[in-house]
Amino acid sequence: MNFPKKRRYLTHFLLFTAALTLSAASLSGCGTAQSQRIVRIGHNQSVNHPTHIALTAFQNYINEHLGDHYLVEVYPSELLGSQTDMVQLTQTGAIDYCIASNAILETFSKNYEIFNLPYLFASADSYHHAMDDPDVTDPIFTATQKAGFTAVTWLDAGTRNFYTVSKPIENPADLKGLKIRVQQSPTNIEMMRLLGGSATPMGFGDVYTALQSNIIDGAENNEMALTDNGHGDVCKYYSYDMHQMVPDILIGNNAFIQDLSDEERAVFEEGYRLINQVQREEWVKAVDAARETAVSRQNVQFLYPDQAPFVEACLPLHQSVLQNNPAIRPIYDAIQEYNTRYPSITE
Ligand code: GCU
Repeated sequence: MNFPKKRRYLTHFLLFTAALTLSAASLSGCGTAQSQRIVRIGHNQSVNHPTHIALTAFQNYINEHLGDHYLVEVYPSELLGSQTDMVQLTQTGAIDYCIASNAILETFSKNYEIFNLPYLFASADSYHHAMDDPDVTDPIFTATQKAGFTAVTWLDAGTRNFYTVSKPIENPADLKGLKIRVQQSPTNIEMMRLLGGSATPMGFGDVYTALQSNIIDGAENNEMALTDNGHGDVCKYYSYDMHQMVPDILIGNNAFIQDLSDEERAVFEEGYRLINQVQREEWVKAVDAARETAVSRQNVQFLYPDQAPFVEACLPLHQSVLQNNPAIRPIYDAIQEYNTRYPSITE
């Protein structure tokens, strides 16, 4: 991967957009049929990833049902820049949608902090049921109205775990002195401080090079990062401490969404549901395949440390986040009810 290319891609995209605008203008100038409104969606995963597969299903669905008026285009692999760049493009309406990790959205509304808390969900079932409950997600998803965007659905990004180039992580003490890449989120930086490692925040697209050039000693992510992003070519130890289940979020530009007619909005909303459904089905298959590839082709060793010391180190973060934002307390309590209903299977 050659990351300086990202900026070039962005420049190419902007030139491409200008060219599109010009050609649309010249077409209408010639008195030809009204052109379709291009709907641009950016994300940072490869074309093999469940996220891209789901967005392609959305693209086909919208093009099939509203193709006379809209043409959806999906831009993968950070073609439009990093997630932070893409959120800004969505805010201004330069693009219409993008997928951002919940982690980076907390800098736009601190309500998002809740889903970044380590050990928030007791199990994957609890996580899925809570994220499917509008009483849990609505107060978060609508919290960025003033920032110009709204969240329209969530995508599964599995469980985040530590992986390192050369030192197996069996307990938090093993993180001491290690530089670990985290997402650009104050909650994640604080989590690493509590666990005793040295947090190195950076964008996803820069992680592979940073690992390869020993700028960092490890990172934390789901299994897909090992295979689809090649991190398992460099990192040989992956420890299931299961510290976070951080969803990815599809956000849309407010003005674009508001300008849709009621009928169009209903079709787009059905499309959002399709994204969630397809992505979650694909996710299960993709993680199984990634685990298999990581072991057989990359020689990654999976470790299963006792989670208790990790949990104990991280729990103070729950109280500090709730104290700083009491408004999210009811959501936190609702999630605890899901945790009671769907406890960890290891309990
Ligand atoms: C996962 C997640 C991405 C995120 C990435 C990261 O891959 O799905 O949305 O950007 O982690 O660690 O930055």
